[in-house]
Amino acid sequence: MANKLCFLLWVSFVGLLDLVYVEGLGVNWGTMASHQLPAKTVVQMLKDNGIQKVKLFDADDTTMKALAGSGIEVMVAIPNDQLATMTNYKKAKQWVSQNVSRYNFNGGVNIKYVAVGNEPFLSSYNNSFLDLTFPALQNIQNALNEAGIGDTIKATVPLNADVYNSPANNPVPSTGRFRSDISDLMTQIVQFLNKNSAPFTVNIYPFLSLYANEDFPLDYAFFDGANNPINDNGVSYTNVFDANFDTLVSALRVAGFGDMPILVGEVGWPTDGDKNANIPYAQRFYTGLLKKLAMNQGTPLRPGYIEVYLFGLIDEDAKSIAPGNFERHWGIFRYDGQPKFPMDFSGQGLNTFLVGAKNVQYLPQKWCVFNPNANDLSRLGDTINYACSNSDCTALGYGSSCNSLDAQGNASYAFNMYYQVKNQVPNSCNFEGLAMVTTQNASQGTCNFIIQIDSFSSSVRPSSVILLAFVTLVWFSLFL
Ligand SMILES: *[C@@H]1O[C@H](CO)[C@@H](O)[C@H](O)[C@H]1NC(C)=O
Ligand SMILES: *[C@@H]1O[C@H](CO)[C@@H](O)[C@H](O)[C@H]1NC(C)=O
Ligand SMILES: *[C@@H]1O[C@H](CO)[C@@H](O)[C@H](O)[C@H]1NC(C)=O
Ligand SMILES: *[C@@H]1O[C@H](CO)[C@@H](O)[C@H](O)[C@H]1NC(C)=O
Repeated sequence: MANKLCFLLWVSFVGLLDLVYVEGLGVNWGTMASHQLPAKTVVQMLKDNGIQKVKLFDADDTTMKALAGSGIEVMVAIPNDQLATMTNYKKAKQWVSQNVSRYNFNGGVNIKYVAVGNEPFLSSYNNSFLDLTFPALQNIQNALNEAGIGDTIKATVPLNADVYNSPANNPVPSTGRFRSDISDLMTQIVQFLNKNSAPFTVNIYPFLSLYANEDFPLDYAFFDGANNPINDNGVSYTNVFDANFDTLVSALRVAGFGDMPILVGEVGWPTDGDKNANIPYAQRFYTGLLKKLAMNQGTPLRPGYIEVYLFGLIDEDAKSIAPGNFERHWGIFRYDGQPKFPMDFSGQGLNTFLVGAKNVQYLPQKWCVFNPNANDLSRLGDTINYACSNSDCTALGYGSSCNSLDAQGNASYAFNMYYQVKNQVPNSCNFEGLAMVTTQNASQGTCNFIIQIDSFSSSVRPSSVILLAFVTLVWFSLFL
């Protein structure tokens, strides 16, 4: 009885204060989109959804200014192509001065971390950044320390999960160690992070495990149980996220730093561009992940709170698709800042949507489609290729949302994507007479024919134009 009462009190207490919430949830804000929402609009979205941490891929001035005063914790970043420059201490000091110290004032940007490079040791980079990353990391942290801000702002390197593994003959988390070709380097990096009380940052992608291996057990990518859990000396692993994370914990332990704080720099699920990249799977993944995070469940080797940054915030139609067509569909929000599926940051799996971007300005309701009256179709293939190589047609591929269109539908989709990316300028819907503009919504079934956002008239501009007109009017009436 007493227990029951306590429980009821607890429930109403929690309910009143709305305490059940994923604590300190972060998101990755990438900007490789042809049409971007105004940075201020994005920051408002973060606030509206209670997102308290954001990870960037650079230190763009407009983004930083929009974040100023928001209180949101920020990880700024040095892209891989600037790592070589950062091996020069003077340049590193300039970077810190311009991109960190400059924003470090009351009402400025709440910078917590500097990401030095982005997954620089990926095998596919052919070791290009192997000799550059550690010197750059040292220089940046030392520059932060010299500027007197190293106590609160830490340099870290977001690493791909392929920097560690378990031996093939005993592939369990407890046998984790750093990849043999970079084991010494990783140990040095970890020693340096430890010396500066900086965290290890790792990106973990269950989706990619599934994508890379046809035999990967589907359920193991999610968080709602698996038929054949991995048994690691009596510890049962039912999802690849926990197993992967604990493989890192073991690798850190071998290196002598088993208690080093770990941030998950990226984790998420794409919604298009592959047979496993779809809304039901993304929703299943996030529901499980958010529930786990809200409960502060942690992993078998690291129970408790884990700092996590979801990947990503908004779809990016200009990202490289070298890793796969899904690359442009990682957003928890669409290209226009609208939520794609229900997502509940309280971790209760409620059927509620996040708050979308407000006052989004769209181009006019006009689509470019295949002209059914065209008679010479000999150039159709070439025009489609042209349209797609200058816009994003990844939704047309196998297993994707527009894969079931017929040949004319394919052409229309390609033409429209090109027309939208070109801001609907009239000559972008011609294609040698094969295309025409329509005001009828051209979407077909699951395939959405989008209208791009109008990135020239941000929601701020109309009012500033009015303000300018008003000021001009006042000026004239006063002085003439
Ligand atoms: C600061 O960051 C911006 C954006 O990432 C970059 O273009 C610029 O070169 C950096 N400043 C210095 C001094 O390196
Ligand atoms: C890595 O090497 C392969 C094969 O030599 C090459 O095709 C690829 O472009 C290289 N990648 C980078 C990032 O240099
Ligand atoms: C439409 O385009 C996709 C992607 O290029 C292709 O797989 C499919 O076969 C095309 N469909 C038709 C009917 O041509
Ligand atoms: C066009 O139709 C689709 C499918 O009915 C819908 O989801 C989309 O919002 C519509 N687009 C516009 C711009 O009205």
